[in-house]
Amino acid sequence: MPTDTTLDTQAGAAVYSPWVLRLYDAWVLGISNRWAWQCATTDVLLPFYRKHVGARHLDVGVGTGFYLEHAGFGPAQHLSLLDLNQNSLRAAAARLGRADVSWFVQDVMQPASALGDRTYDSIALFYLLHCLPGDMAAKVCVFEHLKPHLAEGGTLYGATILGDAAGHNAFGRKLMSVYNKKGIFGNRGDTLEGLEQALRDHFADVEVKLHGKVACFTAR
Ligand SMILES: C[S@@+](CC[C@H](N)C(=O)[O-])C[C@H]1O[C@@H](n2cnc3c(N)ncnc32)[C@H](O)[C@@H]1O
Repeated sequence: MPTDTTLDTQAGAAVYSPWVLRLYDAWVLGISNRWAWQCATTDVLLPFYRKHVGARHLDVGVGTGFYLEHAGFGPAQHLSLLDLNQNSLRAAAARLGRADVSWFVQDVMQPASALGDRTYDSIALFYLLHCLPGDMAAKVCVFEHLKPHLAEGGTLYGATILGDAAGHNAFGRKLMSVYNKKGIFGNRGDTLEGLEQALRDHFADVEVKLHGKVACFTAR
């Protein structure tokens, strides 16, 4: 499927200034995940992240690098970071504190040319899809772009906040409204079924599980 060049992908990344990144872990990973999206970082998302990391790992949409820091990587594991926003890449790389991390400035809705012919045993997309504009049919290009970089037997996995049909609580509805208006989120129409179908269109072995209002998925 061709990449839709009319969609504005900047707003979903540009918000992550150094100042916003300083507040991110407390506001998003602490408060919002538990009380708005009903999917606690320490109980659900971090264990899920850790479970699937492979020997060569690519994190797409790195944010502050919280998951990378707490993933329990050994020194032999190869790490790559990909993000449209250089503030996020700098913050995550600094947090990892390793000299051997590769990082790529790239819009994931465009063909992943920055990655060249690199392949990975695990590719993580945590809280990325809901930041992208368009419906699931537009976002599916992300799987097309990353699939060639998934090694044989590797796992692409992630988590994304679902849209209005998920039935958000009052706190979640307020955040959904503000973030979607500002273009920080583009997920009003995202559904579990739509995500599952998009993954099945590209991968043979797909699992999608709902935790609160967050879909956690693996694809091989
Ligand atoms: C909500 S943060 C997620 C951070 C982290 N993965 C987490 O789960 O907490 C979204 C990240 O995706 C990046 N991002 C947003 N749109 C992007 C795009 N089109 N291409 C690449 N990265 C993008 C943002 O810059 C930001 O670092």
